[in-house]
Amino acid sequence: MENVKIIGCGYAKAEKKLFNTDLEKIVDTSDEWIVQRTGIHSRYITQTKNTSDLAFEAAKKAIKDAQIDVSLIDCILVATTTPDCITPSTACLVQEKLGLNGQECTSFDLNAACSGFVYGLSLASMMLETYSTILVIGAETLSKIIDWNDRNTCVLFGDGAGAALIQKSNQGRMVSFTKSTGDKDGFLMCKGLSLQEKEMSYLEMNGKEVFRFAIEAMPYSIEKVLEKANQKIEDIDLFIPHQANIRILKHVAKKMKIDFDRIFVNLDEFGNTSSASIAIALAQAKEQGKIKKGMKMVLTGFGAGFTSGAIYLEW
Ligand code: UT7
Repeated sequence: MENVKIIGCGYAKAEKKLFNTDLEKIVDTSDEWIVQRTGIHSRYITQTKNTSDLAFEAAKKAIKDAQIDVSLIDCILVATTTPDCITPSTACLVQEKLGLNGQECTSFDLNAACSGFVYGLSLASMMLETYSTILVIGAETLSKIIDWNDRNTCVLFGDGAGAALIQKSNQGRMVSFTKSTGDKDGFLMCKGLSLQEKEMSYLEMNGKEVFRFAIEAMPYSIEKVLEKANQKIEDIDLFIPHQANIRILKHVAKKMKIDFDRIFVNLDEFGNTSSASIAIALAQAKEQGKIKKGMKMVLTGFGAGFTSGAIYLEW
């Protein structure tokens, strides 16, 4: 369905702000290297909260922003790669925290890594044929799957959550494109729980290969979604991409001839929060007054799998 409106959004930060200089004390790295190679200055880490707690905080803010009664929510979808437990789903835990136990509400998680929020919105827009008010959340506590001795990964990631509420409406438009290709070489993986690897393990990444994938996948997704929505790149007021690396965003901007001031960036503050990144960025852009009625926007992500996708939005 294309007649879809985001009626509210919100985000939650984890409590501990970790600066690059803090990481200099843990691994052989430097503030200079991290800033130059990634654009990241800090990230938020939790030591007290689960993914469902951050998801719940973001959800409450989205509900307040939308000014709706919580009981209207009849579907909850949480995109995460770091759920509290294998079962029940984080979405069911959020439902409980919102006081919706016993209410008819369909809640489940999805894992599409850093493309999770884009996949979530895409799926939710189709589900509006059946449900009236869908809460889509991207939430992560990546700090628990990070090897804090591995400088290749620990400088990049952070924890957090973002949420959006969607409803059917003639006043908004949403068009989506999603794709997965497979990652046969295992360039981005957290292997725990396979037959061979029963212990929980850490996130492993070949940064160069993921970089290469990202600068192909994001432009492809943007082109595809604009084609489906019958829009041109110059018509788009604001791009909200997955926040992984400023150099990736600069590559994409150059390749697609997008002025950099049309791209929302908060990776300097948050680092890469995987499924949560686009959701947090959307809510923060709205909070900062950067999103106005009638604006045309594109959200786009890429991640492990390899997954990728984009959402075209008329606000
Ligand atoms: O959501 C998707 C998740 N992942 C991504 O988006 C990652 C995409 N990739 C990237 O962002 C970049 O590839 C990285 C930031 C991960 C790495 O940047 P790079 O420019 O590709 O660096 P590199 O891996 O080629 O490493 C260059 C050098 C190496 O040293 P030598 O071999 O040249 O002596 C690394 O060992 O930098 C070294 N290095 C570091 N030095 C200081 C790698 N990590 C660090 C570090 N601090 N944290």
